[in-house]
Formats: sequence, structure tokens, C-alpha cells
Amino acid sequence: MMGELRVLREQAEAELQQAGTEEAFQAIRTRYLGRKGLLTGLLRNIANVAPAERPQFGKECNEVKEELSARIDELLAGLASSKKDEVLLRELIDVTLPGRGVRHGRLHPVTQVREEICRIFAGLGFSVVEGPEVELDYYNFEALNIPKNHPARDMQDTFYVEENIVLRTHTSPVQIRIMEKTRPPVRILSPGRVYRRDSDISHTPMFHQIEGLLVDRGITFGDLKGVLTVFLKQIFGEETALRFRPSFFPFTEPSAEVDIRCVICRGQGCRVCGQSGWLEILGSGMVDPEVFRNVGYDPDEFTGFAFGLGLERIAMLKFGISDIRLFFDNDMRFLEQF
Ligand code: PHE
Repeated sequence: MMGELRVLREQAEAELQQAGTEEAFQAIRTRYLGRKGLLTGLLRNIANVAPAERPQFGKECNEVKEELSARIDELLAGLASSKKDEVLLRELIDVTLPGRGVRHGRLHPVTQVREEICRIFAGLGFSVVEGPEVELDYYNFEALNIPKNHPARDMQDTFYVEENIVLRTHTSPVQIRIMEKTRPPVRILSPGRVYRRDSDISHTPMFHQIEGLLVDRGITFGDLKGVLTVFLKQIFGEETALRFRPSFFPFTEPSAEVDIRCVICRGQGCRVCGQSGWLEILGSGMVDPEVFRNVGYDPDEFTGFAFGLGLERIAMLKFGISDIRLFFDNDMRFLEQF
């Protein structure tokens, strides 16, 4: 019997050497140590051992059992830890590799200028409003005191959708729409797309304008000058010189165009400013009483001023861009510079 025990022990060890998986180890455990296992069977036959040798035999059987059980536990633990190592190895990352960069989107230069202007005027109490790009003749022209025979209505300038519907040629119709449904005080800023039949290095058939309108009691040309001066100095720099030049718009009286000292040559005279040293930047004026009558405001009670400017033009001067068409090519090499 002692011999059989030794044989079983060696046999188990040999099987363990061969086994490599958790299932195989567990199978060996069952075969030797299970309730119907070989070692258990041997112990059950203790009656065949000479009584004097029984205690010794029992002891050795138990030792072999414990030893085998511990050995299997140890092998299983080794298996688990090598599995973990394998996973770690597989998931190893090389922290020295350069990262996969996220490409940042950026705002179009025209959008940047629009946001900056809206921010400046928000600080002066103006709120942003919008209106339709496909506009009635009435709002685009008639209500703004632009009569039927005005040259701006020429098919050369205006895109007609139908006889009385146009693509708006400026953002001024928004001031009419707002005044029609609000009572003064009015302080609005209206950015948006406008359309004119024009195309060369400084004109595109679609471009962007911002219209501003302030109406209240006692508003004077001094207010117009003050607000536009604050605005232009903020956007072009405190040192920027300005001049207000008499002009004409059907919807304002008196009217003024505002020039800034040329940002390219600083007044010396260059190609960009046509040697004049000045750049025309916006149109403005005191709202014509006729316009107020059209929206039901009493021109004896209220006065106000309006102004309009082209965003592309501001962006061209701010960023030193010589061809307006670059804004609409969507060439990444151009857009990435802003
Ligand atoms: N709407 C004018 C234009 O497009 C600009 C302007 C707006 C002038 C408001 C005066 C007052 O040229």
C-alpha cells in the first residue's frame, strides 16, 4: 500500500507537469483528491494495511493529499498571474509616442469681426436682431425713402426674386421691421448677408453688413459722432484718426460717411487708400423724418441715428487682406491664418 501511495504521488506530479490550463489542473484535483478520487480510494482501503502500519499509512496519505492540493493551488495562482501579465503586455502603451493631435476649428475672419463689433455695441447697450434676406421691396426701398426711380433699384445692382421681392441690398430694412413693432427707445444692431450684382477684387455678389440704429428723445448728431468714435477707436485702435464727411442717403438727413486714417500707410498715401490717406469705413446719418413717419413715430418727438458698414471691408483692413474674394474661396491655407 505504501508503494501504491508513492506511485500515485509520482503519477500526479507527472500529470501536473503536462497540464497547462486551469481546467486540466482542476481535473487532476478531482481525479486524485475528489470524493471518488484515487487517493481517497486508497485511504478508504486502509483495512488492507497491517494494523501496526495503519497510523503511519494514514499520516502519509494525508501528507500527500495536502502536498498535492497545495501544489495545485500554487500552479493555479501562477497561471492567473501570468494571464494578468499577458493582458498587461497586450495593453501596453508607449507613452513616448507623439499624441494624435485634435485639429482645432476656427472662426471665419468675417465671423470674428462680426462678433467683435457685436461685443463692442453690446457694451453700449445695443442688442442684436436679425431680419430676412429675401425681402419685400417695401422694406428694402420704399419705407427707407428710396423712391421707385432711385438708381439703387436698377437691375444692375439689385437681385430681383419677383417684381416686389428682392434679395436685400443692405441690412437697413431690419430697422424698419423693428421700429414697426417697438416703441422707442430703440438700440439695435443687425448683422447679416446682403446681395448686390457686383463682382471684382473689392466686391462680391453676397457680403455682410451690420446696421445700427438708436432712437430716443433728444438724440443728436453729437450722439452719432460719440458712439461711432468710441466704436471705431475700439476696433482699429485708440490712436486711429477719424473724419466725418458730408454724404447722402435717402433714409438719413443729414448724412455722413466716416473715414479712418489709412491703416496701411498711416496717412502717407498708398494704393489701398487711393493716395488720399483716408479709408471710407461706414455710412451714417440722422434718421430721416420721412422714415419715422413710415413706421408711425412722431419725428417731432423722437430723433435717432443709423449707420451701416460692410464686415468684409473691416476684416480686410484689420487683417491686411487685398482681395475680398479670398473670404469666400474656403481655402484652408487662407482660413488657417486667423
Ligand atoms: N444702408 C447703407 C448702405 O448699404 C448704409 C447706411 C446705413 C447708411 C444706415 C446710413 C445709415 O450703403
